Amino acid sequence: MTILGIETSCDETSAAIVDGIRIKSNIISTQMVHQEYGGVVPEFASRAHIRQLLPIMHQALETANIKLSQIQGIAVTYGPGLAGSLLVGLCVAKSLSLQLEVPWVGVNHIEGHILATTLSNRQPAYPYVCLVVSGGHTLLVYVKKPMDYKIIGRTIDDAAGEAFDKVAKILGLGFPGGPAIENIARQGDHTKIRFPRALLDKNNLDFSFSGLKTSVLYHVKSLKQPPSIQQIADISASFQQAVLDVLLKKSIMALQRLQCSDLVLAGGVIRNSNLRDQFQKMVKEKKIKLHLPSPELCTDNAAMIARAGHVHLENGERSSFNLDVNPNLCLDHTVTN
Ligand SMILES: Nc1ncnc2c1ncn2[C@@H]1O[C@H](COP(=O)(O)OP(=O)(O)OP(=O)(O)O)[C@@H](O)[C@H]1O
Ligand SMILES: [Mg+2]
Repeated sequence: MTILGIETSCDETSAAIVDGIRIKSNIISTQMVHQEYGGVVPEFASRAHIRQLLPIMHQALETANIKLSQIQGIAVTYGPGLAGSLLVGLCVAKSLSLQLEVPWVGVNHIEGHILATTLSNRQPAYPYVCLVVSGGHTLLVYVKKPMDYKIIGRTIDDAAGEAFDKVAKILGLGFPGGPAIENIARQGDHTKIRFPRALLDKNNLDFSFSGLKTSVLYHVKSLKQPPSIQQIADISASFQQAVLDVLLKKSIMALQRLQCSDLVLAGGVIRNSNLRDQFQKMVKEKKIKLHLPSPELCTDNAAMIARAGHVHLENGERSSFNLDVNPNLCLDHTVTN
């Protein structure tokens, strides 16, 4: 089934053509308009989606070398995300479905992240545990069988990606913060400052990153003068390691508790090469099968949405034209659209 995927939940406008697990094209346009504001401005995001979505879709068709008439199904993100941004994608998907007379399905953005790793030949074995670490979510999900998601741990405050972005702002490193922190941390010493690792007690699979962020803020304030480049590098490396230690430890706890041997990683923070290396090292020691999406499939993209849509369409699901955007959509509600 040749699926057109559409993703407009936040500040990436993306369209993709996916055939089963094969990506034929995956065009992503990251909106630059937000950079000077240090975060995503919702009104600017929806306007940029309106300008960019149709050209991006044309580019996706051209790259895949197919005509619009060859599309057999449409998958579009309908939540969670920014309401105005989601509306742009949803309206385009509904209109196209009417025009082409092909089925369409609304997709949960987080399910898309979880299934990004399945856009390759090596499929995770059920049941598996997925660690989702993105800009808006930090979740541990137990995936018992296809389309069956149970959240077993979540952040009680900031998401890990959000913590990267906020700490980068404190350190004057710009937006988005994740890549900036990763870059400068390469020159830093991660043992220099011992930042807190929260909620590490046994039996707790939840996360908390707000205290860590505040700790970085107090550390910076305690310096007599603005931090030097070397101090910023040391703070970044120490902060990054504190986040990684928690993610590693909680993932192992979840795998042990649920007796799973497959671990899937998902979300933008998984682009971090230090994180990728440390998880790869950990799974070798513990004999766990790790499923890592390629870096470009970790952050928002329409190929992961097309992949999730494919699973639902093949399952016979069809969305109704009454389906509205759901900015707070929960993973557990995915199959009820
Ligand atoms: N190399 C990196 N290291 C750490 N964090 C990173 C890296 N690259 C990106 N990120 C972080 O990933 C986040 C973006 O990821 P993603 O696109 O999955 O989030 P989102 O779509 O905004 O949120 P959600 O998926 O929860 O709705 C940002 O917070 C960004 O700082
Ligand atoms: Mg995302």
